[in-house]
Amino acid sequence: MKIRKAVIVAAGLGTRMLPASKVIPKEILPVIDTPAIQLVVEEAVASGIEEIIVVVAPGRTKVIEHFQPAEELERHLEERGKHDILEIVRRPNKLARFTIAEQAKPLGLGHAVLQARDAVGDEPFAVMLPDDIFDCPRPCLGQLIEAAVAREAPVVALLRVAHSEIPKYGIVAAKTAGERLFELTGMVEKPRVEEAPSDLAIMGRYVLTPDIFELLAEGKPGKGGEIQLTDALMALAARRKLYGYEFEGIRYDLGDRAGFIAAQVGFGLKRPDLAPRLREYLKSIVS
Ligand code: UTP
Repeated sequence: MKIRKAVIVAAGLGTRMLPASKVIPKEILPVIDTPAIQLVVEEAVASGIEEIIVVVAPGRTKVIEHFQPAEELERHLEERGKHDILEIVRRPNKLARFTIAEQAKPLGLGHAVLQARDAVGDEPFAVMLPDDIFDCPRPCLGQLIEAAVAREAPVVALLRVAHSEIPKYGIVAAKTAGERLFELTGMVEKPRVEEAPSDLAIMGRYVLTPDIFELLAEGKPGKGGEIQLTDALMALAARRKLYGYEFEGIRYDLGDRAGFIAAQVGFGLKRPDLAPRLREYLKSIVS
């Protein structure tokens, strides 16, 4: 199994990040100084991905513009000899090959993934939600790909969550299948705590096989009138073995206000140019 393509879904309304996401797609909102989607593309490339398919809402092309040359800006920086900044500006253009797929209406995550069907074709592929940003010793997607290749099977990212967080996520029923690896036997989208089969939640990284597309195409709107990826995953698990991998690392939820702030602090404390001042500031406000 070789995973060459990744689908990044970026066609949601981002209502939890309004008003910031009214004009600026939330995927462009930064973690410190880098748009979230660039971090996701960098993770994909570090995991061996060669082609990125970005699913966008019609006309919301800003997400893609970030990976295209900015001629005037680049000329300006070149003329002034600002080569270090020029390198930073040009970096996204060289990361990968990009294809755009459009989702005409935000009919759910499953529906968004389905729009990438032609671009993906008949090969296993990754799905990445740019809301989820990871700080991992090895790229989160790379960890999943390793597990998927070893088992020749689809794998989703899993994280143990606090009980109070369970109703926010897709929660799996699972049995242990190896180190950090689980065979999935069921899943429930946003359950009540009492109904949850475990505390293992699905996070926004998946390695999928192309048979998921026909299951998505057959899918009926579920919770909230949307075509859920979880429903298709359940149908997939009935056909073939589906695994979950409890990745090693930290995850930030950028689609949520508190998660967005946590990411700025977490990544800020890792930056040598920012950490001392940030640490000092944090100390001054908590004491
Ligand atoms: P979310 O569940 O965070 O939905 O989507 P959302 O619309 O983006 O945000 P809120 O809940 O209104 O604040 C998870 C990922 O799936 C994509 C989003 O862009 C996000 O990256 N998505 C979701 C789509 O591309 N299309 C959809 O119809 C729904």
